Amino acid sequence: MPASKSYRPETRLVHAGTLRSEFGETSEALFLTQGYVYESSAQAERRFKNEEPGYQYSRFANPTVAMFEARMAAFEGAEAARATATGMAAVTTAMMGQVKAGDHVVASKQLFGSCRYVVEELLPRYGVASTLVDGTDLTQWKNAVRPNTKSFFLESPTNPNLEVLDIAEIAKIAHNAGATLVVDNVFATPLWQSPLALGADCVVYSATKHIDGQGRCLGGVILGSEKFIQDNVHNLIRQTGPSISPFNAWVLLKGLETLGVRVRRQTDTAATIAVALVDNPKITRMIYPGRPDHPQAKIVQKQMKGGSTLVAFEVKGGKAGAFRFQDALKLVRISNNLGDAKSLITHPATTTHQRIGAEARAELGITDGMVRLSCGLEHPDDLCEDLLQALDKV
Ligand SMILES: Cc1ncc(COP(=O)(O)O)c(C=O)c1O
Repeated sequence: MPASKSYRPETRLVHAGTLRSEFGETSEALFLTQGYVYESSAQAERRFKNEEPGYQYSRFANPTVAMFEARMAAFEGAEAARATATGMAAVTTAMMGQVKAGDHVVASKQLFGSCRYVVEELLPRYGVASTLVDGTDLTQWKNAVRPNTKSFFLESPTNPNLEVLDIAEIAKIAHNAGATLVVDNVFATPLWQSPLALGADCVVYSATKHIDGQGRCLGGVILGSEKFIQDNVHNLIRQTGPSISPFNAWVLLKGLETLGVRVRRQTDTAATIAVALVDNPKITRMIYPGRPDHPQAKIVQKQMKGGSTLVAFEVKGGKAGAFRFQDALKLVRISNNLGDAKSLITHPATTTHQRIGAEARAELGITDGMVRLSCGLEHPDDLCEDLLQALDKV
């Protein structure tokens, strides 16, 4: 089936990008091959001169990877996509591919720890200056611009506090400065937020999260216009090799087929849990992007089609309270991962955001009592019962 734009998103998730072989298989074929053979020397030459379409080597391209990329592009409404081995490979490639020594990058300080490392430590090592701003403050984005600013980078909702940044307004500021905007859309998922439609130039995902959604493999994907991908991404992947394994691309391709139903259910569950827990005396703060009391509720309404599969809340008693709560859970498991079929709880201050230090955490509002819950596919009542019994132990 062609990746027709006339089909609705859930239909595209099931069919778009399918390349059916001569055997007429229903499920997409897994091409576990490193290389390809040519019918003649002349054909090999034509392929290498780009005079004839076709595959050469799986570091550059592979039919199973191509199906995953085409399905992601069709769902996201992007002209082009390139898959990578991990989400961090996607972020690093998208940012490094655009800059050279002497350039400048602006990023929101509310970033996943490894993304912050890329912006704060890795880019400057190669002569690319970076400025971190409070992503919720548009004036700070404007003031950070320099004549050599090449790109803006943000994630929204942010990890772990689920703050929501105004993508359309930040894209305008970037474009006025002659810079691009790259959005890490992991927490929103492609179902609930479309950064390209809001003005971003590039979207990146850790496909490890909701796109697989079942804890099986790592992966990443970079999406944008044909020009953005050709100019900044394609050659860097081809020459330096952060390429995805065809096996992992196949797992992710099959994951996309169920993404719509999974993420809808996980989002409904997160909303149910937020309601069940909000007035609990052991909780001092509840953050859920679908709630009217969310600090950026108006932006959520403007730019997101759904809430989130995650809920963040602060447990009474700081680190000791949060640990007592987590350790008393029987069904929800302790993990730093998210977007899984299994509900997972994280204490960011001692895990994902431990490396940035106490001062940076305080600045970001990541308190010692804060926990982040990634809602899975279990029955919501079982999850609520587990969370409530564990809160009783605090
Ligand atoms: C917001 C965000 N971006 C990027 C990544 C990196 O993805 P990966 O673990 O697939 O490299 C993560 C992983 O936790 C994440 O939460």
